[in-house]
Amino acid sequence: MARTHRLGNIFNRILLLIFGGAIVACAAIFSLVLQRNAEAELASKALLFLDSMNAVRNYTSNQVKPLLEPQLGEQFLPQAIAAYSARSVFESLHAKKEYADLTYKQATLNPFNPANQADGFEADLLERFRTEPANKQLSGFHTREGAEVFYVARPLVVTQPSCLACHGDPQKAPASLIDRYGSEHGFGWKLGQTVGVHIVSVPAGVPIATARQSFFWFIGIAAVVLAAVIVAINLLLKRTVLRPLSQMTAAAEQISKGRLDFEMESTASFEMKALAAAFERMKRSVVRSMRLLQSVHYDRGRALLAAGDLDGAIQELYNVLNVDPDCVAARVDLARALVRQGRSQEAIAQYNEALRLAPEDPHIHLELGALLLEQGEQAVGLNSRS
Ligand code: HEC
Repeated sequence: MARTHRLGNIFNRILLLIFGGAIVACAAIFSLVLQRNAEAELASKALLFLDSMNAVRNYTSNQVKPLLEPQLGEQFLPQAIAAYSARSVFESLHAKKEYADLTYKQATLNPFNPANQADGFEADLLERFRTEPANKQLSGFHTREGAEVFYVARPLVVTQPSCLACHGDPQKAPASLIDRYGSEHGFGWKLGQTVGVHIVSVPAGVPIATARQSFFWFIGIAAVVLAAVIVAINLLLKRTVLRPLSQMTAAAEQISKGRLDFEMESTASFEMKALAAAFERMKRSVVRSMRLLQSVHYDRGRALLAAGDLDGAIQELYNVLNVDPDCVAARVDLARALVRQGRSQEAIAQYNEALRLAPEDPHIHLELGALLLEQGEQAVGLNSRS
């Protein structure tokens, strides 16, 4: 039984190793795919939002500003400023509950409006855009006020000389602008300079939680399926291999002990049936050769006994009993040979064994009785006859 268990253990260990490895590999790939999907979803949302804000800026610069420009000398009209209209549009969007988590900022290090002052994170992004001018967009996850957000940022470059009419030299800037914002901040920009970042962020908590949930569902289902497969394989292994194998082991044990009067149980699988049939044939040929061997020893033992070679006869008869301990005739002959050698105690033991095998045989009772009588143990001799 111990051996069959071990085979099952080996099987299970290999299965667990393969399935465990497969689950870990699948989980890693799946988690990567989910993460990518969540990121792509968030990125498309953030980009739509960022491009919308840019469209507002362009509309203001291209269509509103030319109309209002002539009046800017006397009166400051923030409606003509792209940055202002973009911020206003964002603020009215932000006031709605469903967009309360969105953020949009035109962050610069030196703004007119303090609300546009870059914080540490935005300043770092700006620094990256300055050191990597080829980089036109940065995105990723970021924690803002304790919540996880996905951000997309683009560099804010002074591409048009017209920007410098207000953001360049404060001496040349419209007076109404100086009245409103002072001459301290927002000036001194240069053409081609990266002065800030456009940055939007969208909440990432829900898509990430959804991805995590899908991941755990996947792992759970995969684990249940694999457990079911392992159980099924175990049952199959037990039915088709382990049980027939342990039956055959038991059969081989019977043969090795000289017991040949058993039947092999039939099994389901073709291979095991073939093995069982081979076993049966082997058993039959073992029986045949053992019988042959037994009769050779027995005949030789009797011949030696008749010839008076007691040692030889005893040796041969013992050989018969080694092959077939239940052979009563060989045992009785052995007892007779032992009696003739004067080994009465051994002879009595052999007679008793013969009687155990054939309690009804009167000859054995008679010979044992006579022997015991001769030994002077009359009482026991009479007893054995009862
Ligand atoms: C007519 C003057 C004027 C011109 C021309 C102008 N801006 Fe501005 N800009 C402003 C004002 C005023 C603000 C502050 C608006 C507010 O209160 O949000 C501003 C704000 C900004 C901001 C936000 C940071 C800050 O300073 O508050 C950026 C970025 C910006 N402008 C970029 C540009 C670019 C790029 C151009 C050229 C395409 C440009 N501006 C042209 C007047 C101008």
